[in-house]
Amino acid sequence: MRAVVVPTPGGPDALALTDLPDPEAGAGDVVVDVVASAVNRADLLQRMGFYPPPPGASDVLGLECSGTVRSVGPGVEGWSVGDEVCALLAGGGYAEQVVVPAGQLMRVPRGVPLAAAAALPEVACTVWSNVFMVAHLRPGEVLLVHGGAGGIGTFAVQLASALGARVFATAGSPEKLELCRSLGAERAISYRDEDFAAVLGEVGGADVILDNMGAKYLGRNLAALATEGRLAIIGMQGGTKGELDVSALMHKRAAVVATSLRARPVEEKAAICRAVEEHVWPLVEAGTVRPIVGAELALDEVAKAHALMESGEHTGKVLLRVEA
Ligand SMILES: NC(=O)c1ccc[n+]([C@@H]2O[C@H](COP(=O)([O-])OP(=O)(O)OC[C@H]3O[C@@H](n4cnc5c(N)ncnc54)[C@H](OP(=O)(O)O)[C@@H]3O)[C@@H](O)[C@H]2O)c1
Repeated sequence: MRAVVVPTPGGPDALALTDLPDPEAGAGDVVVDVVASAVNRADLLQRMGFYPPPPGASDVLGLECSGTVRSVGPGVEGWSVGDEVCALLAGGGYAEQVVVPAGQLMRVPRGVPLAAAAALPEVACTVWSNVFMVAHLRPGEVLLVHGGAGGIGTFAVQLASALGARVFATAGSPEKLELCRSLGAERAISYRDEDFAAVLGEVGGADVILDNMGAKYLGRNLAALATEGRLAIIGMQGGTKGELDVSALMHKRAAVVATSLRARPVEEKAAICRAVEEHVWPLVEAGTVRPIVGAELALDEVAKAHALMESGEHTGKVLLRVEA
């Protein structure tokens, strides 16, 4: 099978399309014929040598895919050859075939084209697990989504709006601010020209913040939080080490949590996938929440796909078409 690996870490040109042996399904696993995958920021870090795959995971890049079940390993129930699926992966998605623990498979929401379903697993699982399972966003509460026009952001804005939250989102250009509003944001805030903490202050603060920036925004995020607010950090685009004013945190009785999906045990990822199928897919099937695909490239254009995400010019997800 054709697959994308990184023989030597580096820029987008370090990505190499190569031939690897077809994988086989072990106990509890399923092999999927991949129709599409999607690019994640973690893939860029892995390509540069900063984010090795967790123990036991494939060296092939790719944290999500859609496709059809090719074979089913011993002990797997509920999935059959030919089923259309999408899947959360610890790696291996940039390939014609991938092995997936059966618990990390999800059905494709009705009405979503099979290829577009590759844009859903990472965003749906990350947003549901952080904003709802960890930070317990409730209807009527205020959510601040940083990077509202990105892959995670476009999904978070839509999902939280659909579930009755008041959504504020940051973005970097007029077009991206408009995209955030069109997806349901009550207020889109320019992270270049505006002080998001001041804007949130006008409505009493954010009950929940979904943060992609990490260290750089720690202080301002804390300032933007409401009393009993919850800051969920999922990204490190603004660095890893910052200073936290514990006194301000105590005063607000606020919480700071950070999570990573990839390295979680299979059982935890499976539980998130079941929760996503139960709570999120009905909204996707109703058309209230949809995958936002800003660009679609072929597997042999993978270097271009990485360069596009690195440029920050994309909106929504960058899809990689594996099967023509
Ligand atoms: N922890 C986890 O399990 C997990 C899972 C998936 C993703 N993530 C992380 O989530 C983050 C978003 O992922 P993604 O797939 O959505 O990537 P993406 O599509 O590339 O989005 C990145 C976003 O960052 C925004 N951004 C850049 N500079 C900013 C600033 N100064 N202030 C606020 N926003 C800024 C961009 O906004 P503009 O485009 O408007 O400039 C863009 O929306 C990444 O850091 C990724 O690593 C974490």
